[in-house]
Amino acid sequence: MTLKFVVMSDLHLMPKGELSMTLDTGARLEEAVNAVVERYADADFCILAGDLADLGQPQAYEHLKAIIARLPIPVHITLGNHDRRPAFLEVFGDDFAIETGKVDKVIDIKGYRIILLDSSEPGRVDGVLEAVQLDWLRARLAEAMDRPVIVVLHHNANALHIRSDDIRILEPAAFIAALKTHPDIRQVIAGHVHVTSTASWHGLPFTTLAGGHYSVSFNVDQPEAPIRRIDGPGQMAVVIGTPDRTTVLFEDFIDGNATIGMIEGPRVVRQAAE
Ligand SMILES: [Fe+2]
Repeated sequence: MTLKFVVMSDLHLMPKGELSMTLDTGARLEEAVNAVVERYADADFCILAGDLADLGQPQAYEHLKAIIARLPIPVHITLGNHDRRPAFLEVFGDDFAIETGKVDKVIDIKGYRIILLDSSEPGRVDGVLEAVQLDWLRARLAEAMDRPVIVVLHHNANALHIRSDDIRILEPAAFIAALKTHPDIRQVIAGHVHVTSTASWHGLPFTTLAGGHYSVSFNVDQPEAPIRRIDGPGQMAVVIGTPDRTTVLFEDFIDGNATIGMIEGPRVVRQAAE
């Protein structure tokens, strides 16, 4: 009973036919969907972790809806700073907003609890988890003390020593404190920074995926250095969960994934059990 799901983030869709930062983000998402159809059609679901639309127009959400209709697995969604919640709800339905007023969600599957948090806040680029959401999070964690938990949201809470550290989760201490009420947080997965990273902070594991839009080159601890936007990879995360292990793999569906010839020769296989 292995849990498997895909996380896509930072799709930055425009209305069909329009580009974002010179990139055809619709075509890039089509490639991501192709990768799921070809290689992850057996996954339990796909999460879209925010920045679904670049400018939040209803037509961009219509575009998104049309493309993800090809996904052969269920889709769970939360929002990012580029999204416009009213436009999203207009296209996808008001049911996506729960009692917190935001697009939060809980999923129980194969012995895991997955919690989606909507860190978007109108008018802000950084992320906000409101008090009502943190109360909701603590309650959902308290219900799942017997299970491992994975949290997925748009904004990273942890600083990454890069320029975008000033637009992460605002006041992350309350978020950390809520997470620390649970004994088995397996991952906290975010997008937002357009960078791939893993970190441990306050004893918790944090991951960011580069997402589907441009990626960012960075200078460590030089926030004044100009960033360069690079067109690849288009990246999604593949999360695999067993009772004792949670793994995050990164699938670059654009760039960096050209197939090379197999090298023939002897291959030593370790026989010992793990
Ligand atoms: Fe983004």
